[in-house]
Amino acid sequence: MKRVYSGIRATGRLHLGNYFGAVKGMLALQDTYDCIFSVVDLHAITTPYAPSSLQNSVREIIIDFLAAGLDPKKCHLEIQSKIPQHTELAYLLSTIYPVSRLEDLPTYKDKKAQYPKYVNMGLLYYPVLMAADVLLYKGELVPVGIDQEPHLEVMREIARKFNSMFGHPSTGSGSSTFPEPQRFKTEGEYVPSLTGKGKMSKTVDGSYINLTDDLAVIKKKLAAVPTDSGTIGGDLPKEGGVASLFVMMKLFKQENEYRKFENDYKNKTIRYSELKEVLTQGVYKELKPFQEKRKTLLDNPSLVDSIIADGQKECMEMAEETMKEVRQKMGFA
Ligand code: TRP
Repeated sequence: MKRVYSGIRATGRLHLGNYFGAVKGMLALQDTYDCIFSVVDLHAITTPYAPSSLQNSVREIIIDFLAAGLDPKKCHLEIQSKIPQHTELAYLLSTIYPVSRLEDLPTYKDKKAQYPKYVNMGLLYYPVLMAADVLLYKGELVPVGIDQEPHLEVMREIARKFNSMFGHPSTGSGSSTFPEPQRFKTEGEYVPSLTGKGKMSKTVDGSYINLTDDLAVIKKKLAAVPTDSGTIGGDLPKEGGVASLFVMMKLFKQENEYRKFENDYKNKTIRYSELKEVLTQGVYKELKPFQEKRKTLLDNPSLVDSIIADGQKECMEMAEETMKEVRQKMGFA
């Protein structure tokens, strides 16, 4: 069975973008592959963060995963920092990869522009740690968005280089230690930002709805989506707040309502307050079962503790197996 690895940054609560873009895909994968799903807290600290809430965010994401339907009997759940082999492998791999390639990555440049006062080594090193995440488990498939493709390329380059430099310890070459991981396209769907610009993102305030938002919060967030005068007519816009609202109606399977409001738009009779109310109800209805499951998990902290502990034990064994091989091949044993 092929191994799948995916990581989610612990920088806040899961939102609808994560749910449609990643979590739904993860749910489908756990039935078919040997999956490791990780909360990558070491990656989360490369951009400004609050140490006092880090551990809580990590746990909340695990609870979100479970409430959404990830089943610890079908997949391995990991908290990255609890498996020190990630950082060990990342360091070892960093010694075979050029700095100049890392400096050229679009993700690094974007973050530099976004946080000009927080350009740290960890940020540059981010793709190496990400490569270590997957290679530590000899993962072959990585279900992530297209924006992560440059990181996957780095991962493959590192795997290839390691294999050619440190093949078999006695012969010097020949055996391949790591597979070259491929990005795995899941059924994930694009969820637009509530601001009307780009995709829903936890690092952009006002852009997202959390999976735990209650009716009042959903209502308030949708009310803030920028719209127009409602008297433009013609085809629906392709971007902006109005476009986001319509895309969301589709995601929440409000087909009939979609058609009604699309007609209203064409006829310049659309009332956005009405549309937003309908959408609020649709979002809330979908989130309710998740929120109820979540509550039962919150009421049972020892169950969550034991799920986390089991995942850690399973992952630690697999990770240590790879590390034994790597240490030996690199000359440490
Ligand atoms: N960089 C990924 C993101 O921002 C998160 C991540 C870290 C990851 N390590 C990973 C994803 C390993 C897949 C596999 O979404």
